[in-house]
Amino acid sequence: MKIAVIGTGYVGMVTAVCLADLGHTVIGTDVVPEKIDKASRGISHIYESGLEELLKKNLKRGNLSFLHDLDETIRSSEVLFVSVNTPQREDGSADMVYVEGVSRRIAENLNSYKVVVEKSTVPVKTSLWIKRTIDLHKKSDVEFDVASNPEFLREGTAVSDFLHPDRIVIGVESERARDVLVEIYKKFKDRLLVTNIDTAELIKHASNSFLALKISYINLISELCEKTDADVELVAQGMGMDPRIGDQFLRAGIGYGGSCFPKDIRALAKIGEDLGVSFDLLKEADKINLKRIDIFVDKIKNALWILKDKVIAVLGLSFKPETDDIREAPSIKVIQRLLEEGATVRLYDPKAMENLKQVFPEKTPQVHYAKSPYDAVEKANALLLITEWDEFKEMDLKKIKGLMANPIFMDGRNIFEPAQMRELGFDYYSIGRK
Ligand code: UDX
Ligand code: UDX
Repeated sequence: MKIAVIGTGYVGMVTAVCLADLGHTVIGTDVVPEKIDKASRGISHIYESGLEELLKKNLKRGNLSFLHDLDETIRSSEVLFVSVNTPQREDGSADMVYVEGVSRRIAENLNSYKVVVEKSTVPVKTSLWIKRTIDLHKKSDVEFDVASNPEFLREGTAVSDFLHPDRIVIGVESERARDVLVEIYKKFKDRLLVTNIDTAELIKHASNSFLALKISYINLISELCEKTDADVELVAQGMGMDPRIGDQFLRAGIGYGGSCFPKDIRALAKIGEDLGVSFDLLKEADKINLKRIDIFVDKIKNALWILKDKVIAVLGLSFKPETDDIREAPSIKVIQRLLEEGATVRLYDPKAMENLKQVFPEKTPQVHYAKSPYDAVEKANALLLITEWDEFKEMDLKKIKGLMANPIFMDGRNIFEPAQMRELGFDYYSIGRK
């Protein structure tokens, strides 16, 4: 099967490399030439555990390549996975301008039957627009099909998620397209769910919004815990022991970020609104998530009173551990608020510093990029832990305390035990527990 992956970002890179690893012949293409140049040399432009090894392995094997030329890539492939970005517009809906652009290019290069697969998260009914666009612009009578195959990859474990999936959803409207996609994923045939396209498109938005709801729910419960003697970690444990609820995605904290949840929950609310179904439920979850930052910043103010001229160490900048991705990372909003209040920030992250420098350039006044957690906390009046990297769990806490001006520790992800932290002499604040 000759497959093209159009748009080799976080999703596309993993998809291209893993499809090649399954034994298919894959070409990856992207509008950013640097990404293609690097990938061709076996270097991934994103950090994702295990990705670069598989990239090198499959380049060497000869069934994976990267091409600048989109037209040529389309013409020489039978299946086209479209994984360009679908950013959020001002009204919350997904901006489909790149998907439309790629659809037109597919139409212009339709030299043989092709299956166009939506890999990006798209609103339900997008397939009709893709089909219409290709029909409008195609220059021949060659047939094609549109299909949906949403990704459920979590950044940080995306390679393993791809190669060990819980489910593979395939949305199709013809036997021919169905056979093609079932063949691509034949290794996982016991985990295939074949539906119509609208259903597949909706499964993705419905899943992500549900997970975001779950997080906002436990975060709201954590607020209640802070006003009582309840402990949110134990509440979550108690809830999670019920298999109907499940123990995953019940970690209270500073809120969810990333390129999916914040955007998808708004997109689904907008889809509902457009179709006359009120989704205030999702809007409320979004509000709860945004409020997490206010609550966290208020806690810092309650500990330090005035933030002006205070030195604040921020550990963890990526939106979650094991990725360099900072899209919608809570760290950005917190840092912005600290800078507005006149604080100096000392920042550290194992992988995301280079990306954060695009948001807060190195020369920004009062912004300092540290070399290690220990460097970050030097003379700090407070330490904020925003992302739960393992490196932070393993820090020498005595050393950390010794380096700080004031041992104020704000744990935005509940990675330490309150009693232990207090014993070490920290003024320790966490989420939803005392
Ligand atoms: C993915 C999904 O595709 C998106 O729908 C989902 O909601 C978030 O996750 P992701 O891979 O994370 O997107 O986005 P990004 O890293 O921005 O990758 C998109 C890639 O497409 C970029 O490399 C971009 O350069 C490329 N692109 C964009 C094209 O090649 N052509 C275009 O016309 C537009
Ligand atoms: C998500 C979905 O999980 C994946 O299936 C989808 O295809 C893409 O979007 P991702 O955004 O990479 O994946 O990360 P995920 O692990 O879902 O975490 C998203 C955010 O939620 C992170 O900011 C994380 O810190 C936060 N989170 C997660 C919590 O605050 N509490 C939890 O219990 C779980």
